[in-house]
Amino acid sequence: MNPATARYVDAAPEADVVRQEVLAGLAARPKRLPCKLFYDEVGSRLFERICELDEYYLTRTELVILRERVGEVARLARAGCRVVEFGSGASVKTRLLLDALERPSSYVPIDIARGALLESAAALSLDYPELDVQPVCADYTREVELPLVADGVRTLGFFPGSTIGNFEPAEAVTFLRRVRAHCGTNGLLLIGADLKKERLTLEAAYDDREGVTAEFNRNILRVLNREHGGRFSLEAFRHRAFYDERHGRVEMHLVSTVRQRVAVGSELVSFEAGEAIVTEHCYKYALDQLQGLARKSGFEPLRTWTDARALFAVALFAVI
Ligand SMILES: C[S@@+](CC[C@H](N)C(=O)[O-])C[C@H]1O[C@@H](n2cnc3c(N)ncnc32)[C@H](O)[C@@H]1O
Repeated sequence: MNPATARYVDAAPEADVVRQEVLAGLAARPKRLPCKLFYDEVGSRLFERICELDEYYLTRTELVILRERVGEVARLARAGCRVVEFGSGASVKTRLLLDALERPSSYVPIDIARGALLESAAALSLDYPELDVQPVCADYTREVELPLVADGVRTLGFFPGSTIGNFEPAEAVTFLRRVRAHCGTNGLLLIGADLKKERLTLEAAYDDREGVTAEFNRNILRVLNREHGGRFSLEAFRHRAFYDERHGRVEMHLVSTVRQRVAVGSELVSFEAGEAIVTEHCYKYALDQLQGLARKSGFEPLRTWTDARALFAVALFAVI
């Protein structure tokens, strides 16, 4: 058996806890669903396809910046550090980092999507036999206990993909404070964030011509049907994505095309025709907002890098 998957930590929340969260969201106005529900096996694969779309500039731009800057990150992190990644997915960007770091001691990928987590952890552990890969299946918006680390080993947190944008601004601070606690004294955090830009580019990135993002969005209903007793008809909801400039966020919605009532377990949820469920907010940052977020969360921004067109930013924060 692969050493990484043989002793992984499974701290994923119980189905009942998630169902309560789902029902509370569907009872709210506007209706909301937690975006972590996108990522079952199908959702994780769809997200990987999104990353390859022409319109989805985020992944390839972040990769360009990382390729240019990982050497500098490695010098600042120094030899022997542990890498902890929040929402590791397919761990594609991680490989760039691991290749640049000098003798990283261990890698702790945390993800709620068990299948994608174990698959990528197993592959990494084969490709990096010297590296101790310690996968943790958990919801990082809750308290998570990480494997113990030896005294004196520096932790480099890694949070790419602009996933920070999925948190409401106040929640982003709460989350980063928790990340800071995981990083510990003299810890660092390497984080990727999408930048504010004009509407057309943003809206195309979340509403591609092939309809992959629409399929990804509707997959949340498939997850509700399979895991939480939902009876949603996927055809009765359409994908909508738009940039709300006032709040600086792209909103993804599923809009009910008809008036309907849908069972979720023993509950019935009513929808008016045209009523939306908010499935994801993706906040876009200005560079000073990103640096402000670091300071509010107990970090000092050490470096901030962007691409030539200032589409995306990668920043290195130090625990203070
Ligand atoms: C936008 S993708 C980014 C994946 C990868 N880090 C990248 O940059 O390409 C978000 C990842 O975070 C995971 N995720 C989302 N919400 C989560 C949560 N609450 N707890 C743990 N993992 C979560 C998803 O399963 C997915 O792998």
